[in-house]
Amino acid sequence: MMNRRRLALLLAILPAACGGSEPSPKAGGDATAVPHFAWLSSRVARGAQPEGEASFAFLAAQGIRTLISVDGARPDVEAAARHGLRYVHIPFGYDQVPAEERRHIAKTVRELEGPFFIHCHHGRHRGPAAAAIAEQVLGGMTCEEAKEELVRAGTDPRYEGLYRSVTEFRAPGEEETRADPFDFPAVAPVPALAEAMVALDRRMDGLKAARAAGWKPPPDHPDIAPAHEALQAEELLAEMARLPEAAEFPALLGESLLAARALRAALDAPIGPAEAETAYRRLTQSCSACHSEHRDR
Ligand code: HEC
Repeated sequence: MMNRRRLALLLAILPAACGGSEPSPKAGGDATAVPHFAWLSSRVARGAQPEGEASFAFLAAQGIRTLISVDGARPDVEAAARHGLRYVHIPFGYDQVPAEERRHIAKTVRELEGPFFIHCHHGRHRGPAAAAIAEQVLGGMTCEEAKEELVRAGTDPRYEGLYRSVTEFRAPGEEETRADPFDFPAVAPVPALAEAMVALDRRMDGLKAARAAGWKPPPDHPDIAPAHEALQAEELLAEMARLPEAAEFPALLGESLLAARALRAALDAPIGPAEAETAYRRLTQSCSACHSEHRDR
């Protein structure tokens, strides 16, 4: 039989389950400079990747002190520094927030100066998951609220691992955080495949904008030439095929490459937008086909 004192002692040394107190009141924010910008509390905000001076100026004006990127892209450390903002890079994938990265998030929000702005590329999936974890570490959110927060952010329910990472999260003890040798790198190494995927994603953003402009250079981005974007996507996919990681899914990568090639051919030759549309759909489907099998679970 366990007496009361021993039980109290045991509870004291166990990591706090599922966050703690009520969430802090949520404040608003201007969504134009940083898409999907939102505060979880007065200490943690989330959103899309800041791009350009205006977005960093906006974050500084919000009172943010430290940025945490969980994306594979290289953070714009120089632009952030011009606005007095420090970057910490903790990249992870779509399948979960791994234990090591959870500890790094905890150490960052416990030991560096807040408020914190936590972002991925689009600000919908990985960034909100990391922000919900940070808020739980700081005691401002329970795991039920963390789940609601992901729903509010528009995190796709397909990313079950991200949802599980926030609902099953247990904050590490203070002792464990102190012992973690993580030294807050502004730019962390990213696997070669993830790095290439980030570059591919940028080309897809360009193609998406060109598509919306009827397969012409988008008016707000006249530098984007659709056929050139498709060629770059094709070359990135060809390069990826040479990476050792690609040995795992040669057929899926091959299909993506063929689709990019078809799109480039359609945009190169004046054979009409119908072919381009078909090839574009084929290409985006090839991304999802491989991700659902090899990235998101
Ligand atoms: C043959 C498989 C495959 C295909 C095809 C593929 N991907 Fe990926 N993608 C992956 C894998 C695996 C990862 C995870 C890599 C990692 O985290 O190391 C990934 C990661 C990503 C990431 C996340 C990078 C980050 O920030 O961590 C983005 C964005 C991405 N892919 C975009 C695309 C787009 C856009 C396409 C289609 C044009 C595409 N991918 C096609 C397998 C694929």
